[in-house]
Amino acid sequence: MVISVKKEQSPQPMILTDLLARHQNLRMHAHDGLMLDGRPLTPIARDHGTPAWIMSATTIRGRYAALAAALAPTGAHIHYAVKANDHLAILTLLARCGAGADVVSLGELTRALRAGIPPARIVFSGVGKSTDELTAALTENIAQINIESAEELDQLAAIATRLNRPARIAFRLNPDIDAGTHHHISTGRLGDKFGIPIADIPALYTRASEHPCLIPVGLALHIGSQITSPAPYRAAFARTASLVRALRAAGHTVTTLDCGGGLGIAYADEAPLSLPAYTAAIAQSLVPLDLSLMVEPGRYLVGPAGLLLARVILRKNARPRPFLVLDAAMTDLARPALYGAFHAILPLAPHHLHAPLAPLDVVGPVCESTDVLARARPLPSLEAGDFVAILDTGAYGAVMSSTYNARPLAPQILIDGARADLIRPRQPLAELWQHEIVPPAP
Ligand code: LLP
Repeated sequence: MVISVKKEQSPQPMILTDLLARHQNLRMHAHDGLMLDGRPLTPIARDHGTPAWIMSATTIRGRYAALAAALAPTGAHIHYAVKANDHLAILTLLARCGAGADVVSLGELTRALRAGIPPARIVFSGVGKSTDELTAALTENIAQINIESAEELDQLAAIATRLNRPARIAFRLNPDIDAGTHHHISTGRLGDKFGIPIADIPALYTRASEHPCLIPVGLALHIGSQITSPAPYRAAFARTASLVRALRAAGHTVTTLDCGGGLGIAYADEAPLSLPAYTAAIAQSLVPLDLSLMVEPGRYLVGPAGLLLARVILRKNARPRPFLVLDAAMTDLARPALYGAFHAILPLAPHHLHAPLAPLDVVGPVCESTDVLARARPLPSLEAGDFVAILDTGAYGAVMSSTYNARPLAPQILIDGARADLIRPRQPLAELWQHEIVPPAP
């Protein structure tokens, strides 16, 4: 299997100027150091402390506009996958761009509604939805619920009958395609927990059509995340198109298709998914079917818009390499620990940009051996007190943070043109135990 989530042992480590050149929203100012959208980051790190998450509104808008323009000929609508970054400010920004939402929990549904995303533009995905979640989806009258099993169909039918509300549903097929991504984020192979085998869908479609409260509107699929090749999409869309034809031939009405997300970005020196190739795959297999199409990207829209600022606590001299111990950890950014994911790291001070590089292990202070943010990473000789930016952390970054080791959640700052707004303060320590109850002594 091809693993496209970069492993740390990147054969061709990029020099810092190359990394910088690959990030259009970043620039190294000779005096003020690293800037995001023309705004120096060092004063932000000083004012708000570190670790701290920074998001660029301009980058998100630009990526939304680029994707919307690429998709325009296919007629596909964008339903942002809320899980990638569910901050209300980010959702509101995307709502203003015109995005719908793909949600997977009551919490995400509520966030999307609070951000002003109309229910008619919300779809509910996920392999297991509770009664409360399905009830909310029906009472809010969202666009559709993606059904992932025969069991879930029965569960929804019972709830819709009890509420006497119509349920628009799409069946999520499992196309049995290997998306060539990290196995932890691959979802479209038989044996993955997601979706329904293609062969089982016609009978379920019939069953749903015969139910008074269920309205089967179409199909959904999502084959994985951080997919950088169009080939798995082409294969999955072709299989989906065959299924649409077969369902229609059997007399069913199939009007919508949710193509899922997964659009891969460049974390290191890999090529990101080509938008023209992706949209060509949609145009080739799906557009001729005259369906109402939607896509559910998360990472593509917000990943490159974010960075995590951190400070070097100390440099520990060790063999075979020194450790650079940051104040950011796996509790902030879990991706390296969970998937061996690569995130570029840039120093904030200008004099470090052209300094000689030597390999360092960049780690956090958490008491876990897997709290490694970068292994053998070529970096200048950073010392205690220096600031760094960990790049491309806008998706699956802050949203996957935990408070393990009693570490409070880091603050979040949104840069939008001349504004830099604190959109979430650092979590006060006392909030960590605010809801804990200590029973009286027996
Ligand atoms: N739709 C469905 C049904 C999904 O399960 C997902 C992601 C998406 C859309 C959005 O996928 P995206 O466009 O962001 O690739 N935490 C992992 C990624 C997990 C993705 C889970 N599902 C990571 O940090 O790489």
